Amino acid sequence: MKNKGYFISFEGIDGSGKSTQIQKLAGFLKSVGFEVIVTREPGGSVGGEEIRKLLLQGEVDRWSAEAEILLFTAARRDHLEKIILPAIDDGKIVICDRFTDSTRMYQGMRVPNLRNLVDTLNEKVINLDPDLTILIDIDPEIGLKRAKSRKTVEERFEDFGVDLQLKMRKGFIELAKEFGNRIEVVNGQQSVDKLAQDICSLVKVKLL
Ligand code: TMP
Repeated sequence: MKNKGYFISFEGIDGSGKSTQIQKLAGFLKSVGFEVIVTREPGGSVGGEEIRKLLLQGEVDRWSAEAEILLFTAARRDHLEKIILPAIDDGKIVICDRFTDSTRMYQGMRVPNLRNLVDTLNEKVINLDPDLTILIDIDPEIGLKRAKSRKTVEERFEDFGVDLQLKMRKGFIELAKEFGNRIEVVNGQQSVDKLAQDICSLVKVKLL
């Protein structure tokens, strides 16, 4: 029987450099012989990617935070069923760009008192925590500048502005204390290569 796989999520405010670091970590893990799947939220499965378009495009006030929680959770459930759980059962390492912690922050903190709804739904229909979460911490001004310079159609959350990013950064740091057993904070304001080394060292401790 195959060993069970391992689930790593990356979190951070917009423009924190997650995608670049995920590619570097995946490359390293493959080079030492692991089977790795890189995926993202919202999205990752066909249904999840359809919901992604609804969530990330359009006007800022297109959805309330409550409606967003339901949509993000629906996308996550589909992603879990179709991609994440089968890969973990198959002994693979899954690296996911964002997971439930993003909903805890972007929806659970944007409006007061919504964190409970996120946690309740998570417990009822997701019920999976990453084995390890890498939180890339970065100054929101720098992050937002980077994110906006990409000029994609997926800018709905960036359009909430720097105040939301400031709130998210603070919230993520608090979350890292709350889930100190799995969330590791790394400094996103160093060179790409130095940050990649820091992340590799953390992952090596867990996997090698
Ligand atoms: P990204 O793919 O560039 O990280 O963008 C995804 C956006 O979606 C980002 O602004 C954060 C937002 N988001 C939420 O608001 N809640 C969630 O649960 C997830 C997964 C993402």
